[in-house]
Amino acid sequence: MASCFEGVRSLDVAVIGASQGIGFGFVRHLLADDRVRSIEATYRNPESAKPLLELSQSHPTHLRCSLVDVTDESQVEAWANRLHQDVGTLHLVANCVGILQEGAIEPEKSLRQIDPDRLLRYFQVNSIGGILLAKHLLPLFRHGDRSVFASISAKIGSIGDNYLGGWYGYRASKAALNMFLRTAAIEYSRKSPRTLVVMLHPGTTDTRLSRPFQRNVPPEKLFSIDRTVTQLLGVIEGLTDDDSGQFFSWDGSRLPW
Ligand SMILES: NC(=O)c1ccc[n+]([C@@H]2O[C@H](COP(=O)([O-])OP(=O)(O)OC[C@H]3O[C@@H](n4cnc5c(N)ncnc54)[C@H](OP(=O)(O)O)[C@@H]3O)[C@@H](O)[C@H]2O)c1
Repeated sequence: MASCFEGVRSLDVAVIGASQGIGFGFVRHLLADDRVRSIEATYRNPESAKPLLELSQSHPTHLRCSLVDVTDESQVEAWANRLHQDVGTLHLVANCVGILQEGAIEPEKSLRQIDPDRLLRYFQVNSIGGILLAKHLLPLFRHGDRSVFASISAKIGSIGDNYLGGWYGYRASKAALNMFLRTAAIEYSRKSPRTLVVMLHPGTTDTRLSRPFQRNVPPEKLFSIDRTVTQLLGVIEGLTDDDSGQFFSWDGSRLPW
């Protein structure tokens, strides 16, 4: 299959939210890809990032880990500046950060559970984190090679596809992420025209995030992390010039907003 990175000699990549789940899966897959020259991986909590940190010890020249909480702009900015100095370029960014449950935060089943502070937390992590990354990583894409800024969104954030209701904060925060990045795609097309900005739905994947909600998912619809990452990398490799600003499902189909 033709790759959108065809002609690019080596790839510098960044995976944000790489401590576990889909992000850690991206790191493992990209480490095995001969085209990848460097991987910058971020984690928030050293405890949950132990496997990632161990992996970086066995790949000291290829994989570097940094602590970045995407809700703290100063951390995002400092990390991006460090990458600019040390690596200079990025060809692929995979933003895999997201929360559905966190501490006392649970997805809402009804309006009675709407709580402004919880909603703010969803937006802080799931929406604003993504646009802060797009803001501070833009200078690393201005190198003229094909590059991709991909953010994991969720089909549940599709307004047109919402027939079930519930999960107000998670849904709305993913819809907001999509709008932020669709808008960023337009600005990137002017300032870094070779960069494609896309949102990706991974499909229900067996991770910490989905585990409490897997009971009604048929086994054939619950993907392993390896399967999800293989499928998403396939979507990324297949991107063309017209695809920037679009919202893709794991099978490469476009999702409604
Ligand atoms: N799994 C699914 O079925 C599914 C379906 C649709 C969409 N998604 C989306 O896919 C993405 C990856 O989710 P996952 O299933 O791999 O979940 P996961 O295993 O829970 O991983 C989420 C990642 O986000 C990181 N993170 C959370 N808050 C952060 C913050 N403030 N700053 C930096 N990193 C933060 C976590 O770090 P810590 O280890 O420190 O918590 C972890 O690395 C998310 O955007 C999710 O919404 C997942």
